[in-house]
Amino acid sequence: MSGSTRADLARPGVTRDRILTVTGATKRFGAVTALSHVDFWVDEGEVVALVGDNGAGKSTLVKLLAGVHAPDSGTLEFDGSDVSLADPADAHDLGIATVFQDLALCDNLDVVANVWLGRELVAEGRLDEVEMEQRTWSLLRDLSARIPSVRDHVSTLSGGQRQTVAIARSLVGEPKIVILDEPTAALGVAQTAEVLNLIERLRERGHGVVLVSHNMADVMAVADRVAVLRLGRNNGVYNVAEITTETLLAAITGAIEPPPSEPRAARDGVISLADRGRRRRRRPDDRL
Ligand SMILES: Nc1ncnc2c1ncn2[C@@H]1O[C@H](COP(=O)(O)OP(=O)(O)OP(=O)(O)O)[C@@H](O)[C@H]1O
Ligand SMILES: [Mg+2]
Repeated sequence: MSGSTRADLARPGVTRDRILTVTGATKRFGAVTALSHVDFWVDEGEVVALVGDNGAGKSTLVKLLAGVHAPDSGTLEFDGSDVSLADPADAHDLGIATVFQDLALCDNLDVVANVWLGRELVAEGRLDEVEMEQRTWSLLRDLSARIPSVRDHVSTLSGGQRQTVAIARSLVGEPKIVILDEPTAALGVAQTAEVLNLIERLRERGHGVVLVSHNMADVMAVADRVAVLRLGRNNGVYNVAEITTETLLAAITGAIEPPPSEPRAARDGVISLADRGRRRRRRPDDRL
């Protein structure tokens, strides 16, 4: 796997392997269409932010990727093969790890126990505590994470440290994709910076990272590419290096829309700055 950086995006000729491609995903809940013909993709070693207003369909898309929901229609390709995910275990086995917002940590257990929960290492019929502890330290070192002791109960850790433990746990099994749902939503400034550093470490390790976020500062700070959903549909895919927060907000609110003739402009590439000018549809109240 290659460790790519945001600067790569600006360099023509830098290619990365595509890990995952969603094409035309549609998901309805009764009368509600949560996703309508959504396209989305993730390459190795890139951070893709998934943004959109409340109810835009972000969590529904994440749940399709995590094997929680099955799409009504659409396809999912992973490493070049069509796949379908029957349940979350399927997604995990394939190499898609998801850290949901509630983190699902056990407060009364220590860091090691949380990292290996459900996938404990066993040697000669016993829990291999030494190996699990060593591998936990190694994961945390890789992430440049600051946890005082892996034998501390998770209840004693800060919000940022808890997020770190949840991310470390997601890396057991070396997933190709790590999905983080609002990882900084409940964090202060310093802890947010810690988690953003962690996301950069994940990119350096070659993982494709999907970052669901409402925080545009976080997105602009750490993402390579940003996919916008609006009312369950794609509403643009942008290279972060080429846009401003204002552009992003305009896409989220619908002040910028892909032209009706090219509803799936996102499939083969991102919208460039030149395209943005051409594609922008002016509205009477449009002050951006
Ligand atoms: N299990 C469900 N049953 C019924 N409707 C649902 C279900 N899950 C999501 N929806 C609906 O689908 C739409 C998209 O919801 P989703 O949670 O994916 O949005 P979101 O972008 O994650 O929003 P938020 O930013 O508020 O988390 C919403 O209208 C929501 O009410
Ligand atoms: Mg959500």
